[in-house]
Amino acid sequence: MMAALHSLRRAFVHLTAPACSARWSRTQRRVCSTAIPEKQAPNNSMLRHLTSKIKATGPISVAEYMREVLTNPVMGYYVKNDMLGADGDFITSPEISQIFGELLGIWCVSEWMAAGRPKEFQLVEFGPGRGSLASDILRVFSQLRGALGGAALSLHLVEVSPRLSQVQARCLMGDQNWGSSSEDESAYRRGTSTTGLPISWYRRLEDVPRGFSIYLAHEFFDALPIHKFQKTKQGWREMMVDIDLEAPDRLRFVLVPNPTLASSTLTQRDESREHVEVCPEGGALVQKLTGRIVEDGGAALIADYGHDGTETDTFRGFRGHKPHDVLTAPGMADLTADVDFSYLRRTAGDRVACFGPITQREFLQNMGIDVRLQVLLRNNPDASTRAQLIQGFDMLMNPEKMGERFKFFALLAHSRLASPALTEKGQKRAPAPLPVAGFSELKL
Ligand SMILES: C[S@@+](CC[C@H](N)C(=O)[O-])C[C@H]1O[C@@H](n2cnc3c(N)ncnc32)[C@H](O)[C@@H]1O
Repeated sequence: MMAALHSLRRAFVHLTAPACSARWSRTQRRVCSTAIPEKQAPNNSMLRHLTSKIKATGPISVAEYMREVLTNPVMGYYVKNDMLGADGDFITSPEISQIFGELLGIWCVSEWMAAGRPKEFQLVEFGPGRGSLASDILRVFSQLRGALGGAALSLHLVEVSPRLSQVQARCLMGDQNWGSSSEDESAYRRGTSTTGLPISWYRRLEDVPRGFSIYLAHEFFDALPIHKFQKTKQGWREMMVDIDLEAPDRLRFVLVPNPTLASSTLTQRDESREHVEVCPEGGALVQKLTGRIVEDGGAALIADYGHDGTETDTFRGFRGHKPHDVLTAPGMADLTADVDFSYLRRTAGDRVACFGPITQREFLQNMGIDVRLQVLLRNNPDASTRAQLIQGFDMLMNPEKMGERFKFFALLAHSRLASPALTEKGQKRAPAPLPVAGFSELKL
C-alpha cells in the first residue's frame, strides 16, 4: 500500500500543467430553480410530435415526455445540439476547470491500484458531453504511464448523441479520421486518442465489452427520465403530461385519478414525502453496473446534483443558461431532475459497497484540490491563466456555487475493501486495502 500511495503522491505533484485552455468564465450554471415561462417557439416539431402522440394514446408519463424530448432519435435535444459551453444552454465542472478531470483521473488510477493493478483497464464514461473530462483523464494516464505499468488501457464512451460523439472524437482524437464503424459492430465509432489509446463509442452499456472497468457518470443520471408521483388521500397518483384544453398548442401537467403501473410499483409505502420523483432507468443502470462490478471487478463513480431521498419537485429546464419552463418549447431546452441517491443505493442492494453521497466540495478537498491548484499556480506565471484557475476553483468548491449541490457517490466491489487476510503461515498481515480516495483524505 505504501508503494501505491507513493506512486500516486508523485504522480500528483509531477502532473505537468498543460497550457490551460480557455474554458469558461461565466458564473451561471444549472443551479437555479425558478422557471421563467416563455412563449412556445413557432413550428416546434417536437411539440407537434408530442401533441399527436397524446391525441392518439392519452396523457404521457413525465418519463416518456423527458425521453422523447431529450433523446428522440430524430429531433431529441441531445441528439441535435451541442448544448454545452458559453454559447449553449449550460456548463459543467469538466468544462470549468482542468483540475476536475485530473482529480477524477487520479481517482481512477487509485481504484485500479487498489484492485491489484489488473492487466486490462477499461475506462467507461457515460454521456461524455464535449469529451473534456475524458481528455483530462487521458492526459493524467499518459503522464502516469510509469505508475500504470503497461496496463492495457482503453476508453469506452456511452453516448446517445451522434452530434456530440463527433465533438468528443474531435476533442480526443484531433484531426485524424474519426469516421463511423460498420452497422453490425457493437461500437458505432472507433479510433485512437491523441495519447495512443483505443476509443470506442456505444449507444448502451450492454454493448461495452466485459472486463475490469472504472465507470464514470458525470451529469448523466440527471438527464435520465423520471416519473413524478403525488401523494393523495387515495394513495400515490402519477403526474402526467397532457394537452392544455384551453390552448391546444400548449402542454400541462395532470394528475391521473387512478393508479398507474408506475405509481403502484415505483412508490414506497413508508415514504414520508408528499411528492417524489423516481428514475427507473437510473435504477436499472445501477443494477447492471453492480452486476458487472461483482463479476468483472472495478468501480463506478457517479457525480451529479442530487439528494439522499429528501427532495421533492426538482424537475426543471435550462435554455441559454437561464431557467426554462419544462413544458414550453420542448426539444429546445435541457431537461433535468436531481438524482435521488437513496434510490440508487436501494437498487444497488448489498452486492456492492456504496460510498456517499458526499458533497463535491468534500470529495475534491479529499482528493487534494488545494495542492493541485497551488502546483498549477506555481507553474503558470500568466496572470489571466492564474485568474481563470482561481475562478474555476471557486466555482467548483464554493458552497454557494457547485460545492454543496453536487454530490459524489461510488459503487465498489466488497473484495476491494476486504480486511487483510493473514498470510499462509498466519504470522505477517497482508497489506491493508488502499483507502477509497475522495471519500477519505488522499494523504499527499
Ligand atoms: C448533461 S450532459 C453532461 C455531459 C458531460 N458528462 C459533462 O459533465 O460535461 C449529458 C450527456 O449524456 C448524454 N446522454 C443523455 N441521455 C443519454 C442516454 N440515455 N444514453 C447515452 N447518453 C445520453 C448526452 O448526449 C450528453 O453527452
